[in-house]
Amino acid sequence: METAMTFEYAPAPESRAIVTIKPKYGHFIGGKFVAGSKHFPTINPATEEVLSQVALAGKAEVDAAVKAARKAYTTTWSKMSGKERGKYLYRIARIMQERAREFAVLETLDNGKPIRESRDTDIPLAAAHFFYHAGWADKLEYAGLGTSPKPLGVAGQIIPWNFPLLMLAWKVAPALATGNTVVLKPAESTPLTALLFAEVCQQAELPAGVVNIVTGDGSTGALIVNHPGIDKIAFTGSTEVGKIIARAVAPTKKSVTLELGGKAANIVFEDAAIDETVEGIVNGIFFNQGHVCCAGSRLLLQENVAEEVLHKLKNRMEKIRVGDPMDKNTDVGAINSKEQLTKIVELAAAGDSEGAERWSPACNLPAKGFWFAPTIFTGVTQAHRIAREEIFGPVLSVLTFRTPAEAIEKANNTPFGLSAGIWSEKGSRTLWASQQLRAGVVWADTFNKFDPTSPFGGYKESGWGREGGRHGLSAYLKGVSHE
Ligand code: NAI
Ligand code: MG
Repeated sequence: METAMTFEYAPAPESRAIVTIKPKYGHFIGGKFVAGSKHFPTINPATEEVLSQVALAGKAEVDAAVKAARKAYTTTWSKMSGKERGKYLYRIARIMQERAREFAVLETLDNGKPIRESRDTDIPLAAAHFFYHAGWADKLEYAGLGTSPKPLGVAGQIIPWNFPLLMLAWKVAPALATGNTVVLKPAESTPLTALLFAEVCQQAELPAGVVNIVTGDGSTGALIVNHPGIDKIAFTGSTEVGKIIARAVAPTKKSVTLELGGKAANIVFEDAAIDETVEGIVNGIFFNQGHVCCAGSRLLLQENVAEEVLHKLKNRMEKIRVGDPMDKNTDVGAINSKEQLTKIVELAAAGDSEGAERWSPACNLPAKGFWFAPTIFTGVTQAHRIAREEIFGPVLSVLTFRTPAEAIEKANNTPFGLSAGIWSEKGSRTLWASQQLRAGVVWADTFNKFDPTSPFGGYKESGWGREGGRHGLSAYLKGVSHE
């Protein structure tokens, strides 16, 4: 008989004393912080506390940033040897490590994600991206991307709110390593770690204008996308905005990479190691509140093990600790924004009304802030909205299958194709399934594992191009195939 053991944890809050948040921020242009004109608040989604007022860049500021990036490109950065560029990247990486705790606390305050994740995942991985690309800077000739690879010029980079500093690193590190300069815009709800990164650029004495950071909303993003002085657009965010960007750059000479949404199948075959699989399912969908483009949001269970997996999964979910993101024992933090919470609530309600069965463990959600309990829906069919649309929250849709062929058919029945998971103890089955799945990343007996050496990107509506690894370098070089 199973005995449910619940431990009580005393609060273990991380201190916020290490960060200094200014009441108001400007933009980082040409190596200096310049005052903004209009401002908007960024809040802590766990408490609704206003953390700071952030500037909203309009045409003049975006123009100034592009101009600074162009000047740095032509006068300094594209002329510098790869070896010299690499030194700056190493320096940035080391400073990020030295200031890791500051970054982690700030990320958690601005984003709502658990401190354990920002401390152990986001910040170390962001630094690792800079270390990895620092190593490439003087070896581009040997990357198999042509004998004399050339940068594209000025890259406009627009990033989302789910992994703010990590997405910055995914964008900035390869651009700089390959000799491009950048104008980056963080998401409106999570701009603070990008502004701290601007300080790191100053501390590393990065030549002025190599990295420019403008804050703002979609209107600022659109100004970057449509700016004639930009050579390449790199975007991570919604498929909807990705399509707008693809249309905007189609008649231009701009290069583009898009990392968009997902609806990943996480497939559990009858021979999977069930306990290990349950851990992987939980990590796949509840990591970062499910605000993960590659989240394992569609669980496909082989019918003869479905009952056992669901029983164990529910037991495991009873032990997930939801609450204060600054507490070191918290597993699931706050939903990033009121808008995102509204979207999750609406899609979950569609699950109810279309006939799926909702289940959540009992949990006391804080009164202030934006919260959603970890949730699973069973009895989901392929026609249900919760099986087709990206929820981008802690909500898992469970479907079943009888044969491996049926699993693949269901897994691939989606407009997306970013990632997938396979759980099986049988190597031949894992290899077979991984070859059938139309997804950019396929994990076997694990999920949500990231490494700077491994290319990441999607098929179909999940986007164009790859980030990370040798493939990711090609997206910032002239005349190199992007796939
Ligand atoms: P979004 O795509 O609107 O925002 C992402 C970034 O694009 C932000 O920096 C935003 O300011 C910027 N942006 C917005 N409109 C733009 C435009 N017309 N031109 C240029 N830049 C623009 O995503 P949002 O509204 O925050 O989230 C909506 C949904 O998108 C989520 O519910 C989720 O399903 C999906 N999403 C997927 C992400 C991923 O990693 N693939 C990340 C964020 C959201
Ligand atoms: Mg915020």
